[in-house]
Amino acid sequence: MPLTRKDLLGLQDVPAHEIEEILNTADMMRSILYANTKKTPHLQGKSIVTLFYENSTRTRMSFELASKYMSAASANISASASSVSKGETLIDTGVTLDQMGTDVIIIRHPMAGAPHLLAAHVKAAVINAGDGMHEHPTQALLDMLTMRAHLGGLAGLRVAIVGDVAHSRVARSNVLGLTAMGAQVVLCAPPTLLPPEIARTGAVVAPTVEDALAGADVVMALRIQLERQQRGLFPSVREYCAHWGIDKKRLALAKPGALVMHPGPMNRGVEIASDVADGVQSVITEQVQGGVAVRMALLYLLTRKGAGA
Ligand code: CP
Repeated sequence: MPLTRKDLLGLQDVPAHEIEEILNTADMMRSILYANTKKTPHLQGKSIVTLFYENSTRTRMSFELASKYMSAASANISASASSVSKGETLIDTGVTLDQMGTDVIIIRHPMAGAPHLLAAHVKAAVINAGDGMHEHPTQALLDMLTMRAHLGGLAGLRVAIVGDVAHSRVARSNVLGLTAMGAQVVLCAPPTLLPPEIARTGAVVAPTVEDALAGADVVMALRIQLERQQRGLFPSVREYCAHWGIDKKRLALAKPGALVMHPGPMNRGVEIASDVADGVQSVITEQVQGGVAVRMALLYLLTRKGAGA
């Protein structure tokens, strides 16, 4: 079934059956990634633009590769190399792309709500690839895809998310998505890195990392976002690692075989020890592969409307 929505701006308003549909489609898309010839006609005749106002490796490349694997015409705009650097507004940039026949605009922007503003002014479908500290829906979808592949389902899972929750759009989207799918999310962070409104999200806050990890099916470490952070939110990187870092001893508190996840990029030796990041329980590299499959699925589902599908 195609998605009825025009855009994917966050997981706030995406019901469980739509998440299920996206994940099921992504599972089918995975087979294309394993094929010798990565080329399908799913997006033939469609035009996809990535519009990134912030740096990215995984998200931007996976959207670009997903577009190419499915035969779309694709292009990238980075803010520094476009007319944005001359003062053009986001809406004018969007309207310009619309006039060029763009079917999907994928936007990453430092301001929360920028994708919503763009979506309200363009005919193209808009996908949020991360807006400030708000949401990163495609990251949460690929995380759920990875969990589902290993653990069989999402309902009833205990997912511990540890780290810089306050600055994390990944944490927010995962709380929304996992809660909708019936999982329990347990958050743990230094008190200065926990937003006060977190109690309203349905997630549980654990007082210590040991409490968070006890009995967890999944342990997700978040990146300490030094570039977003004012000084003084925790005493030092060394102290952060000592109190909240995921190491082998702490991981042993989780269920045997619990999955270790990280959205990347990682600060090795800070929020996660290298031997955990590279250990047998880690699915961090699989998350990257799932990212391409999820983005293929979304591009396909959002462009099927009106195609008689
Ligand atoms: N996880 C994530 O969004 O990574 P990038 O910043 O490399 O896209």
